[in-house]
Amino acid sequence: MTDYGSLERQLKALLDTRDWLTNAAQTSAFLMQTLGDLNWVGFYLQRQPETLLLGPFQGLPACNPIPFSKGVCGAAARSRQTQRVDDVHAIPDHIVCDAASRSELVVPIVVGDSVWGVLDIDSPVPSRFSAEDQAGIERLCLAFIEASDLNKEAPAA
Ligand code: SME
Repeated sequence: MTDYGSLERQLKALLDTRDWLTNAAQTSAFLMQTLGDLNWVGFYLQRQPETLLLGPFQGLPACNPIPFSKGVCGAAARSRQTQRVDDVHAIPDHIVCDAASRSELVVPIVVGDSVWGVLDIDSPVPSRFSAEDQAGIERLCLAFIEASDLNKEAPAA
C-alpha cells in the first residue's frame, strides 16, 4: 500500500516556492517518480473559457487543447468531481494521447468558484487506482493548491 501520508510530507517539503508553474512541474515529476505503474502525469489548465490547455507534465507529448465537453479530463472539469476510470477503453469519448494508457485518475483543481485546471494521471495497468489511491492523490492535489498562488502569473524575472 502506498504511504500517502509520507508522500504528502515529502511533497510539502518539495514545494518551497509560491510559484504555481514551478510547483506544478515539481508535483508532476514527484508523482511520476514515487507512484508505480504510471505512463503520464500532468496538469491541464483552464486558460481559455471551458478549455483545458496542456501544462507541466511527465510522459509522452500529449493532446492539446481539450474542451470541457470531451474526454475524461473534460468530464472532471465539467462536473468538478474526480474521475476514476478502471478501463479507458470502456469510455466512448476517452481521448487517446498514449495508446499504452489503460486506466486513469483525473482530479479537478477548483479555486474559489472556478475550475483552475485538472491533474491527470494515466497508467498502463487496468484498474491501477483504488479508492485509497483516489483519496491519497486528492490530498496531494490539495497540498499543491495550498502551496501555490494559483491566480498569479509566473514572475517575469
Ligand atoms: N486521457 C485524457 C486525455 C489526456 S491524456 O491522457 C494525457 C482524457 O480522455 O481526457
